[in-house]
Amino acid sequence: MGEISVGILGIGSYVPEKIVTNLELEQKIDTTDKWIVERTGIRERRVINQGQATSDLATKAAEKALKDARVTAEEIDLIIVGTVTPDMIFPSVACLVQQNIKAVNAAAFDLTAVCSGFIYGIATANAFIKAGTYKKILVIGAEALSTITNWEDRNTAILFGDGAGAVVLGEVSPGYGIIGLDLGAEGSGGHLLNVPGGGSRMPVTTESISQGLHFIHMDGNEVFKFAIKIMGETVNKALANAKLSQEDINCLVPHQANLRIIQSAAKRLGLPLEKVVINLDKYGNTSAASIPLALDEGVKSGRIKNGDVIAIVGFGGGLTWGAGIIRWGK
Ligand code: UT7
Repeated sequence: MGEISVGILGIGSYVPEKIVTNLELEQKIDTTDKWIVERTGIRERRVINQGQATSDLATKAAEKALKDARVTAEEIDLIIVGTVTPDMIFPSVACLVQQNIKAVNAAAFDLTAVCSGFIYGIATANAFIKAGTYKKILVIGAEALSTITNWEDRNTAILFGDGAGAVVLGEVSPGYGIIGLDLGAEGSGGHLLNVPGGGSRMPVTTESISQGLHFIHMDGNEVFKFAIKIMGETVNKALANAKLSQEDINCLVPHQANLRIIQSAAKRLGLPLEKVVINLDKYGNTSAASIPLALDEGVKSGRIKNGDVIAIVGFGGGLTWGAGIIRWGK
């Protein structure tokens, strides 16, 4: 008997209603709509209301994905949530979602790979299903980055937003589904993008808060250089793993961090921008949620069709990165 083919049975996403435009940021910090659009491509982002949290977004995305897949919550064997903004340190967002959707037969855990969290989650779920351990797995990328963003720091406040995307993974027909993967990490670059306070190294104190150590800290230029280099490399490795080449890609679904990074990746992969799903103008960088949010948009808008070869690719804090090649369909 050949190996099981694992693919996406259904997909869903959710963003909170509240919109923060560049013009609103102009009122608060020393920046302009023009600068933000020219340097990043972002025009607005979604932000949770007080009282909302990551698991609320994750639950709504999960419910949509289950409906799209025509799979019941009871059929789910495992829930994996990629997030760096859990509702609290523990329990995990995955356990909160399990309770909300009543996935009573599912194991549940969160996974930390920052903006690569969704791809790490897909790779983990793929391995569990291929091994025969589980049949149906919910993989969710969900973030409320607005809660760890310093809204007075123009280097980061312009970039981030909140949202969630989810997929149900399971067995698909031979030839379809995940056909290539690549994951990587470079811990030596961890200091380039981090939240230094609030963990065991630097627990929360009034001093850590007054120093803003509970917020995202980023060396934007270094992360930019890293992103430009790694996006093409990791897609090429995943393509080699799938025994395909750049010309075979019908659609690229990249992590939505900066339009200039996406343009550079497309160029390196020899892809015209028409083959790239871009929605960061509306949502900014939603970390682990950005790829499933873009993938859902690509599918629902009809741009991604049955039989298409899709490349998903992300990079982020850790440093981490990853890419997946998927032949769309069941
Ligand atoms: O998921 C991964 C997370 N992170 C990323 O992907 C971030 C990757 N990095 C980036 O996207 C870019 O580096 C940024 C968008 C963060 C910054 O863009 P940049 O083109 O690298 O700008 P820069 O930091 O080199 O700054 C250029 C100028 C500076 O002024 P001077 O020194 O030339 O006078 C900055 O002070 O722009 C200034 N600047 C701003 N001006 C208006 C920096 N931030 C802003 C701002 N508004 N928000």
